[in-house]
Amino acid sequence: MQMEGLRSVIVRTDTAGYPVEIARGAVRHVAERMAAAGLRPTSVAIICDTAVESSAAAAVDRSLRDAGIPVARIAMNASEDMKTLGTLGDLCERMLADGIDRAGAVVAVGGGVVGDVAGFAAATYMRGIACVQVPTTLLAMVDAAVGGKTAVNLARPDGSLAKNIIGSFAQPILVICDPESLATLPTRELRSGLAECVKHAVIADPEMLAWIAERIDPILAHDPATLAELVERNVRIKADVVGADEREQGRRAVLNLGHTFAHAIEALLHDECTHGEAVAIGTLAACRLAVELGLGTPDAEHAVRSALQQIGLPTAIPSPRSVAALIEAMGSDKKKQGGTLRLVVPFALGDVRLIRDVPDPALDAAWRSVGAR
Ligand SMILES: NC(=O)c1ccc[n+]([C@@H]2O[C@H](COP(=O)([O-])OP(=O)(O)OC[C@H]3O[C@@H](n4cnc5c(N)ncnc54)[C@H](O)[C@@H]3O)[C@@H](O)[C@H]2O)c1
Ligand SMILES: [Zn+2]
Repeated sequence: MQMEGLRSVIVRTDTAGYPVEIARGAVRHVAERMAAAGLRPTSVAIICDTAVESSAAAAVDRSLRDAGIPVARIAMNASEDMKTLGTLGDLCERMLADGIDRAGAVVAVGGGVVGDVAGFAAATYMRGIACVQVPTTLLAMVDAAVGGKTAVNLARPDGSLAKNIIGSFAQPILVICDPESLATLPTRELRSGLAECVKHAVIADPEMLAWIAERIDPILAHDPATLAELVERNVRIKADVVGADEREQGRRAVLNLGHTFAHAIEALLHDECTHGEAVAIGTLAACRLAVELGLGTPDAEHAVRSALQQIGLPTAIPSPRSVAALIEAMGSDKKKQGGTLRLVVPFALGDVRLIRDVPDPALDAAWRSVGAR
C-alpha cells in the first residue's frame, strides 16, 4: 500500500544508498516500507524511547506483527547519560535473550539518543545487523537519523563527558519520519531541532531562514504538513553533504558548524541547555568569529541572530562562564586534529569553510558576543 503524500529523499554514499521516507502516519506502515526497501528480517528488536513506547513504538510494533514478523520491544530512558557502553551491553544482551540473529534487524524509535545507541548496537551486534531508524524528534529527523554516525559517550578521568567517542559509521537500510509522531514533542525540543535547521540554512540554503520565520507558528503548533516540508528540505541538505563525504574526510565537516562551540557549552552547562540550544548559540558564535577574522561580513550574524530570536532560541549562554574555561573545553573536543583546533565558519550565508589555527583574541571576541565573560 502506498502512503498518501510520501516524500522520499535518497542518501547515496560510497558504501550505501537508502531512502529517507517522510509521510504522515508512516509509523503504521513500517513493515511494508521495509519490504519495499528489500528488507525482510526474520525478527526485529524495536529499541525505543520510553517517551514514545505507547505511541510511535506501539504503532511500529503492530505493523511488524501484522506482517508476521516476531518482535522484541526494548524500551530505554533517553537521556544523554544513557549513551554508554553499559547501555550498549544491556541492549545486546536483551537482543541475544530475545533470539535476534544475523537475519534480524534493529528498528530504533526515538530521538538522537536512542538512534545513536541503537544504531551502534545494530552496527556491532553479531558484527552488524540491519538497522531502520524511526526518529521521533525534529532534531533526529533532520540530522541524527540521517548519515550513519552511531556512537556512545565515555567519561573522562575528571568525570566530564567525552561525547560520541566510541562509535562507527554504519548506514541504516531505511529511515522513516512521521511528522505526526512529533505531536507530543515538547516545544523546547521542537525549537532545539530548529537550531540544526538554522545550521543547515547557513551551510547550504539561506532562503530557509525566512521560510522558517514565516511558518514559525504552524511549526510550533506541530502542523504535520509544514513539518513534513521542513524535514524534507533539511534531509536533502544533509543527504547531499553526507553523499559527497560519508566518513568526514572533507566536506562533511561543514555539518559541524557551531558544534565545537556547542560541545564546549554542553560540557560546561549540560544541565542548562539542550544540544540544539547549544548549537544555536554556537552557530551565532561561529558567525561572529568569521567577522572577527575578517573572513565574513556581519550579514550572516544578523540573519542568524534574527532567525534565532523569531524561533525563540537562545542567542547567549544561559548563565555566565569564563572565556578561558570555554576555550579550554573547545580544545578537548574531538574535532581537534593533530593538536590544532579546526573550526567551521561562514564566509557568507551558503558558503561555510573549515579553518585552522584560529588566534585566541578572535575566539575570545566570539565567545564574548554570546555572553561569555
Ligand atoms: N548521529 C548523528 O549524526 C547525530 C547528529 C546530531 C545529534 N546527535 C545526537 O542526538 C542526541 C540529541 O538528539 P535529540 O535532540 O533527539 O535528543 P533525545 O533523544 O534526548 O530526545 C529529546 C527528548 O525528547 C523526548 N522525546 C523523543 N521523542 C519524543 C516524542 N515524539 N514526544 C515526546 N517526547 C519525545 C526524549 O525522551 C528526550 O527527553 C545527542 O546525543 C546527539 O549527540 C547525533
Ligand atoms: Zn548537532
